[in-house]
Amino acid sequence: MKKDTINSIIQGDCLELFKRIPDNFVDMSFADPPFNLKKKYNSYKDSLEFKDYISWCEKWISEMVRVTKPTGSIYIHNIPKWLTYFSAILNKIAFFKHWISWDAPTAPMGKTLQPAHYGILFYAKDEKKIKFNEIRYPHKRDRKTGYLLKDYGGKKAKVHPFGPLVSDVWTDIHRIKHNKNRDPHPCQLPIHLLERLVLMSTDENDIVFDPFMGTGTTAIAAKRLGRNYIGFELDQKYVEVSREKLSKTNPDSKIGNNWVSYYLNKIRTLRNKDWDSIKKYFYIPSDRKLIDKEEIKLIKPKDMNFQLVINKNNSQLYFESLK
Ligand SMILES: C[S@@+](CC[C@H](N)C(=O)[O-])C[C@H]1O[C@@H](n2cnc3c(N)ncnc32)[C@H](O)[C@@H]1O
Repeated sequence: MKKDTINSIIQGDCLELFKRIPDNFVDMSFADPPFNLKKKYNSYKDSLEFKDYISWCEKWISEMVRVTKPTGSIYIHNIPKWLTYFSAILNKIAFFKHWISWDAPTAPMGKTLQPAHYGILFYAKDEKKIKFNEIRYPHKRDRKTGYLLKDYGGKKAKVHPFGPLVSDVWTDIHRIKHNKNRDPHPCQLPIHLLERLVLMSTDENDIVFDPFMGTGTTAIAAKRLGRNYIGFELDQKYVEVSREKLSKTNPDSKIGNNWVSYYLNKIRTLRNKDWDSIKKYFYIPSDRKLIDKEEIKLIKPKDMNFQLVINKNNSQLYFESLK
């Protein structure tokens, strides 16, 4: 394999480019293929015959599994209809872990149930060897008071101070709605969606791979979190947008020595095992009682404008913008 394949976005047809990657090479592979819904891509025509689409998908899905290490994870994002076919292919060559339901409303369809989620298939190359990190997301809180919105049956004082373990239903990450936040691409994914998967399935310096890179979301998530990446993309314009964005991206999504995912001044995902070393990096305002004065101090992480607020029971902990 050419040395410059790692940490690059390569322009071309993925089936051709897969030949450059050896077996068992990447730690995580993620694909967000064209949905075959006649979306307006720059050059790709998103309208194959049903049979042609499925047989094309079978080829790149097999390749994704081939290049993923036995410790690695395989993810495919799509609408539920196509995921049922992809699952049938994957069940023969990998091990089912989860169908992650990503709550994301779509336009009304009429005369049917309203589609309200995209799916992310999560498969292991080897179910005994797979690398997996438990991850947490922040509690939902009242914006003004910071109080927990959920009741927790009177056991609020016992809940984890940061937030629950992430389940297979994701309601806290929203699709990119505003045009000012998106590239000229019809289906760009939010970076913190990919960061959650990267934190879950990889460690620092691992290789994250995406055969349909679009405008670079997966590569940016990997780079921000100190991972390596390899990306393929058919369209030259999208490749250029990705490269340009990557040149301005630094591996700095960190608090202390711990990689975390944040977006709009809020931490969105952190690893369960990192919590004990992360919590000391937050500021507790002096008008509130401190739990452990020695341990907790203010260090405002680079480029992050938030602080953590805690109450005397250690149960009302939330992030506050410093802006
Ligand atoms: C759903 S989009 C991916 C969007 C991406 N996840 C993002 O956040 O920007 C699918 C992408 O696959 C690209 N594509 C289509 N056929 C391809 C092929 N044969 N090889 C590589 N890329 C292809 C399209 O140009 C499009 O950018």
